Amino acid sequence: MKKVLVAGSTGYIGRYVVQEFKNRGYWVRALLRSTDKIKQPGPHLEPAIDQLADEFFVGDATTPESIAGVCDGVDLVFSSLGMTRPDFVHSSFDVDYKANLNILREALKARCSKFVYISVFNAQKMMQIENIQAHEKFVDELRASGLDYAVVRPTGYFSDMAQFLNMARNGFMFSLGEGDKRSNPIHGADLAKICVDAAEGPANEINAGGPEILTYREVADMAANVVNKSPFTINLPVWLAEGIAAVTSVINRDIHDIALFATTVSKTDTIAPPHGTRRLREFFEEMAGIQQ
Ligand SMILES: NC(=O)c1ccc[n+]([C@@H]2O[C@H](COP(=O)([O-])OP(=O)(O)OC[C@H]3O[C@@H](n4cnc5c(N)ncnc54)[C@H](OP(=O)(O)O)[C@@H]3O)[C@@H](O)[C@H]2O)c1
Repeated sequence: MKKVLVAGSTGYIGRYVVQEFKNRGYWVRALLRSTDKIKQPGPHLEPAIDQLADEFFVGDATTPESIAGVCDGVDLVFSSLGMTRPDFVHSSFDVDYKANLNILREALKARCSKFVYISVFNAQKMMQIENIQAHEKFVDELRASGLDYAVVRPTGYFSDMAQFLNMARNGFMFSLGEGDKRSNPIHGADLAKICVDAAEGPANEINAGGPEILTYREVADMAANVVNKSPFTINLPVWLAEGIAAVTSVINRDIHDIALFATTVSKTDTIAPPHGTRRLREFFEEMAGIQQ
């Protein structure tokens, strides 16, 4: 039986990846900072992992000593460990780059056969964003490590699209620009299949989006329709959003990164090769159901 380490196992995609490896017969070790979250499903319906992982390794990858031996005895490593919200202690360089590098060093020490990492679709077009630089700096280390690897590059996750549902529910929708740019976001369960396929296949770089292409306006309308509301909508012009993003750089680097990312994707289509079957409307309906 093959053994895998999943880092980022308490996050949106990590939980689905634990589940997908388990479904395919792997023995799974989950790296986490604490076991507090394992019994509950995640906030976007992603599964609880207490009954899915075979072993829990408690350690903080930003501190190398706390993860010593984390890869011992495993064949493969998967990491979706990353900073997705403001963290007033660490920078994205500390987490996306250094923490993943600490895991990679453990994988090399333990002579694992492959490392699968989640970066971002179109990263090369967004290198002005620190968080993207940190992801790609790690990808460079991974490529240079000599270890077999795969980098999965997804578009947005359904968990991010849930923000539209929250705004619609609160009766206030906020849109950047005309909302006419298109993307094909992906469900965590569909992306997890791609990640485990990547662990088992030969490709080193995999771009992945979901099965439906939607404009941001269509996503907003869909969210409003699902919660049966007509939210008051503010369309913030991109030039103004860019000005605000520039101001955030002196307040907090993580908020600045998020603002810069949002303005960047609002200016261009983000469409990756389509995968999976899950549709955003069904996800919104499920989310609206549990939030009633
Ligand atoms: N969201 C998107 O649309 C999108 C699109 C493309 C790529 N990505 C990338 O995909 C990756 C996973 O995204 P996700 O939505 O699954 O993220 P998530 O739900 O926020 O999960 C992030 C994981 O990383 C861990 N983590 C965060 N900060 C940490 C720190 N300082 N030290 C140790 N562990 C830490 C979290 O652990 P705790 O539970 O302990 O906090 C969690 O397990 C990220 O790298 C993200 O940049 C996301």
